[in-house]
Amino acid sequence: MANYIDLHNHILPGIDDGPRTMDEAVQLARDLVNAGYSTVVATPHAFEGQPAPQVILERLEELQDELDAAEINLKLLPGSEQHIGPGLLELLEEGQILTLNNTNYLLLELPMLQPLPVYTEQLLFDLSLKGYHPVIPHPERVIALNRNHELLYRLNQAGALYQVTWAALPGLLGSTAQQTVQTMITAKLAHLFATDAHHPTTRLLSVDEASALYEELEGPGSAELMLTTRPGLLLDNQTLDLREALAPEAWPRKKGSFFSRLRGLK
Ligand SMILES: [Fe+2]
Repeated sequence: MANYIDLHNHILPGIDDGPRTMDEAVQLARDLVNAGYSTVVATPHAFEGQPAPQVILERLEELQDELDAAEINLKLLPGSEQHIGPGLLELLEEGQILTLNNTNYLLLELPMLQPLPVYTEQLLFDLSLKGYHPVIPHPERVIALNRNHELLYRLNQAGALYQVTWAALPGLLGSTAQQTVQTMITAKLAHLFATDAHHPTTRLLSVDEASALYEELEGPGSAELMLTTRPGLLLDNQTLDLREALAPEAWPRKKGSFFSRLRGLK
C-alpha cells in the first residue's frame, strides 16, 4: 500500500472551483486513496487571506469527519493556494494565511495568463528573508514562465521553489507545459510534484504513468522521493535537501531528447 502525500489539492467542497458537493469531495478522496495517497493537504484558492483560515479549517473538519465515517483512509491537512498580492507578507505574519500544514512553506500562485506583478521578485526575497519558503504551484501553466524559462531560474534565485503538476509530465496539460517541465527537470528546478486535483478522476489518473516517466529520467527511487519522502519532510517543516539549480548558461541546448526518451517507453 502506497503512502503518497499530495501537497496541492482542491478537495474541500463548495469553497473554490473544486468539488461542489460533499459527495463529490468524498469521491475525489476515494480516487486519491485508489491512486496511492494517504495524506492530502487541502489547498483551496485564496486571495488576500480570503477565504479566512477559520473557514478552511471548518470545512476541512467536516470533510474529515465524512471520510472517517465512510472509513476512507485519507488524512487531510490544512493549507491554501494563495494568489500573489502586495499585502501577502503582512497577512502571513498576522496569521491570516494558511501555509502548508502550518509550516514555513507556502503555496504562492502566480497569474496564469497575465504578466507577473512587478513586485514578484521582491516579495520572494522578502518572504525568504523572513524564513518562509514560497512554493510556486504549476509553473508549467504560467505563461510568463512558459515564454521565458530563464525567469524560472531567476525566481528560484530569489527564493522560489517549484511544484510541478504530475499530469504535465506525460503531456496531459499540453506540449508547452511538457516542454517547461523538461527544462525544469534538466535544470534541477522541479522540486516538488502534486496532483492539483479539483474533481474526481481527471488529472489523478496520470500519477502512476507520470511517476514511472520520472523514474526513467531521474533514476530508480526518484519517484518515491517526490511522492513520499520530500513532501513528508516539508510537512514536518524540515529543510529540503535540494540539488542546486543549473544556471541557464549550463542548460543543454539539444532539443527533443526528452520526448524521444518518452516515446521510447511506449
Ligand atoms: Fe491549485
